[in-house]
Amino acid sequence: MIVVAGGSGFIGAAVVRRLVRDGAEVAVMTAHPDRSRPRIESLGARVVQGDVLDAGSLDRAVAGAQAVIQALTFPTFPVQRPRKRFTFEEFDHLGTERLSLAAARNGVTRFVFCSGAGAAPDAPKVWFRAKWGGEEAVRASGMEHVVLRPSWVYGPEDRALNTFVAFHRLLPFVPVIGDGHQRLQPVFVDDVATALAGAAAPGPTGTFEMGGPDVMDMDQILAVMMDVRGKRKPLVHFPPALPKLAGFFLQLLPKPPLSPEAVDFATGDALADTGPLLAAFPLRLTPLREGLATYLRR
Ligand SMILES: NC(=O)c1ccc[n+]([C@@H]2O[C@H](COP(=O)([O-])OP(=O)(O)OC[C@H]3O[C@@H](n4cnc5c(N)ncnc54)[C@H](OP(=O)(O)O)[C@@H]3O)[C@@H](O)[C@H]2O)c1
Repeated sequence: MIVVAGGSGFIGAAVVRRLVRDGAEVAVMTAHPDRSRPRIESLGARVVQGDVLDAGSLDRAVAGAQAVIQALTFPTFPVQRPRKRFTFEEFDHLGTERLSLAAARNGVTRFVFCSGAGAAPDAPKVWFRAKWGGEEAVRASGMEHVVLRPSWVYGPEDRALNTFVAFHRLLPFVPVIGDGHQRLQPVFVDDVATALAGAAAPGPTGTFEMGGPDVMDMDQILAVMMDVRGKRKPLVHFPPALPKLAGFFLQLLPKPPLSPEAVDFATGDALADTGPLLAAFPLRLTPLREGLATYLRR
């Protein structure tokens, strides 16, 4: 049995679909069973309750699993809410530590952690340092492990590229924060799911970066998106100071859509060296145009 922690989310659900298709018995760990149960059961998985903020809830969640795959984050991501403990540190670092300790204690032999490209101990941004902290916990756990560091993941349920798709549908232009030259390596969610699911089976271990086959800047990505949707519209660039100012006020809402920090999160480079991953696992990386064409309509 494989437990997917975060299997009700964007990446996690794609992992569950892949595992179920391959015939695995899958349980999804959720902190919000009432809300997520219908989705989890529709994926063909069983529901187990576990909250990475509550170490005491995790033993039962992972008991009996051969492998645990962790792909989760806090509900208001990427806007942190420290009073609710919705922070990168509490989830990516300490939450991963709590879950990997519980897994090791309960005889799980293999642990797969969805980290992120850029994870480093001395990174200026807290999200990269927190991912590094989680990685270190997994590496110290004594279990066989794979740490996967995806770059910028897109797919039918993402919250990044789909925002631009919505702008493209609704507006005569597509607004872009910054100069549009941030360098990204968009990777299709089904490819990330194949890598995470494959990593749960006995095989290579280690830490691997993962990006898509195309290195592009944001303007180029949006041009491909518009081509796939069959209509080019002008890109209009806004200096980051404007959404940061909006984020300063919006972060005070109960469900904050934006914060100044989230603007930084969304406008950084995300590149990955995929060579070692492809040498270790049999994978085909889907070109952006091909991935988008599987779910975007003209
Ligand atoms: N999206 C990207 O481009 C990208 C790129 C690189 C790395 N990543 C990493 O991939 C991971 C998954 O990202 P995503 O975009 O798939 O996230 P997502 O769609 O927001 O899903 C978040 C998941 O976290 C679970 N969750 C929330 N609070 C929890 C708690 N207290 N305890 C246990 N689980 C909890 C949610 O399940 P319930 O609501 O059912 O509890 C949900 O399944 C994150 O670690 C992210 O950093 C993402």
